[in-house]
Amino acid sequence: MSGNGYYIQMFSVHGLLRAQNLELGRDADTGGQIKYVIELAQALSQREDVRHVELFTRLVKDKFTSDDYARAIEQVNEKFRIVRIQCGGRKYMRKELLWPHLDEYIDNTVKYIKRQGAIPDIFHGHYPDGGYVARELADIFGTPFVYTGHSLGRSKLVRLLGDGMQKKEINKKYKIDHRIQMEEDVLKRADLVITSTNQEVEVQYGQYRNREIPRYRVIPPGLDIEKFYPFYHDRLPETDKQEIELYAQASILEELNRFFMHPDRPLILSLCRPDKRKNISGLIKAYGEDRELQSMANLAVFAGIRKDITQMEENERGVLTEILLLMDKYDLYGKIAIPKKHDFEYEVPELYRITAQKGGVFVNSALTEPFGITLIESAACGLPMVAPNDGGPSDIIGNCHCGLLVDPTDTGAIAAAIKKIISDSDLWKKYSKDGILKIRKYYTWESHAATYLQEVKKTVADYGKAKMKVAVPTDAIGKRLAALDFFIVTDIDNTLIGEDNSDLQLLLDLLQKYRKEIGFGVATGRTVDSAVAHLKQYEVPSPDVVISSVGSEIYYGPGLHAGRGWMTRISAKWNRSKIVELLSHFDFLTYQEKATQRRFKISYNMEPAKDRLASIHDRLLSHKCRYNLIYSHNKYLDILPYRASKGKAIRYLSYKWEIPLSNFLVGGDSGNDEEMLRGEPRAVVVSNFSSELQKLKKRRNIFFAKKSYAGGILEAIEHYRFVEKVRSAKN
Ligand code: GLC
Ligand code: MG
Repeated sequence: MSGNGYYIQMFSVHGLLRAQNLELGRDADTGGQIKYVIELAQALSQREDVRHVELFTRLVKDKFTSDDYARAIEQVNEKFRIVRIQCGGRKYMRKELLWPHLDEYIDNTVKYIKRQGAIPDIFHGHYPDGGYVARELADIFGTPFVYTGHSLGRSKLVRLLGDGMQKKEINKKYKIDHRIQMEEDVLKRADLVITSTNQEVEVQYGQYRNREIPRYRVIPPGLDIEKFYPFYHDRLPETDKQEIELYAQASILEELNRFFMHPDRPLILSLCRPDKRKNISGLIKAYGEDRELQSMANLAVFAGIRKDITQMEENERGVLTEILLLMDKYDLYGKIAIPKKHDFEYEVPELYRITAQKGGVFVNSALTEPFGITLIESAACGLPMVAPNDGGPSDIIGNCHCGLLVDPTDTGAIAAAIKKIISDSDLWKKYSKDGILKIRKYYTWESHAATYLQEVKKTVADYGKAKMKVAVPTDAIGKRLAALDFFIVTDIDNTLIGEDNSDLQLLLDLLQKYRKEIGFGVATGRTVDSAVAHLKQYEVPSPDVVISSVGSEIYYGPGLHAGRGWMTRISAKWNRSKIVELLSHFDFLTYQEKATQRRFKISYNMEPAKDRLASIHDRLLSHKCRYNLIYSHNKYLDILPYRASKGKAIRYLSYKWEIPLSNFLVGGDSGNDEEMLRGEPRAVVVSNFSSELQKLKKRRNIFFAKKSYAGGILEAIEHYRFVEKVRSAKN
């Protein structure tokens, strides 16, 4: 943390996001998460230990959506702004279609960060798309990565399969396998995962292979007070309930009434998953053993949604069967309701309010309860509670004084507590009122933000410690690149290294001396592994950037972090196998050894002869192939995607990291360097160049050195007064 607080960047890429008038429910991507991230960012920006919060989303300019979503920057308050970054064009797109465009999103965000000249303390990703973006950025800039899933792919898959949807269809529509893979990758790298409940950690993340890797922290979201409003609002003349809420209320009442002999009696409400640890049977026993309680109140047990108990998973099946057996044993017909289903969105809040209206109680009899979101929701609606003497409830009752704690294994104590509250209307009113008022005080975004920052502090500190331990270079490659304004990029074979390496050390010394100001890159026909091995052999220090396989791949830093943005960019219209197939037709082409062939590079050996190149072009073009052909040393023939080359890779670096092209010094010796030598960068052709570069003589910005190899590069540094330029830019 710098003197005046943390700088947090959050990523919530999909959906329609703006600070005011949220269009919640407009489509599947504009729902709870949108509200969550806005409220979280708002709450964080109110704190003194936060310097700056930026909430990143996708820029959308579309005739079907408001212009609000086309604003690149939306300043919400002094410390909080929404930043909209473009990717995959500007049309609105559903989240499943965004995957191929996220690398572009990352690149554009890197540019934004570089331009701002400040790197955040943490990157926080929301949902797997935002998680992917934040994780990549955290890697590039060497900062901690925080993740909030909001919903999980594996749970969704199980649910959809349960609904009878085919796996193939699920993948087509929801790209579920890709999403799950991304979630696994996120877990592998996350320093902290924030969840709203413990159930999410155990049951949902529990299904993931990499579940053990990150640290988890349950921080409940601020309660949605709009949804869980007090029961008496319904009695006020000015309430304007939505039709859908009225409908939910009516159907819940109808559902309950079909079970009860005396529907007007107060209601004891229990609402939880049918899980053994929830101890629903404890509550039914408490009720069944106490005739007085049975005459005072009805019992309603909402235990998830069921169709056919015999088809359920063992734990759930066991619980539900036991409920039915107990109901029969104590002969509770007409007194207990066990509805088969309910909907969470609208019916649950109505259920709390109906129970409160009837002067009832909410009972949670779980054996352990680390949080208990239903307790908070029901209390916010004005429903008193009886809850187990455990972590979550004792906090809630401690803060809000809205009910009684009991030993959940003591059925007599459960019954006594319920009776006490139902029979004493003053006590009932006090608990109800305190719940309504105090939940609004404690279970808010404000308290969420406080815990969040405690966790961020710890995460940042741990990250720093871990870094010291493994002794990684203190400057993460992203931080370094963001600070650089000059670059020397050179070909390796016969340019940096060749037959005569007497000047190599001099050049390396100069690079070392100006390391703070000048980045060092290589651009080679070799594969990344071969390039790195070769450099090592000549004791050349790790470059900041390796452009390998003739510009079809880019790697960053000593860690060789793969530049995925580049790969995605060049992959357009590339059909490797089609080209290989078409070219197999020519017997003058010899396919190079396997180790040199790459996803985005096809290489052959070919002796020069009249019309050979022309016939290759003819064949590929007549079959509508898009490609880039490079012939060098009168021997090598490389076919790359049409957007790939060493030169384009350098332009991409310049664009992404905002380093002017004219601040690049580029060196080469042969045909596969040609394109990068042309144009705006300052270029040098070393004296041992191969004949295909002859034609570049006398071109602007291309200097033909008198010396060979590294000596030629040194000569060019002189020629362009490169060091002087670097020095004067500094001042
Ligand atoms: C390197 C590569 C080879 C390529 C040549 C020209 O020698 O190994 O595959 O064809 O450079 O770019
Ligand atoms: Mg070369």
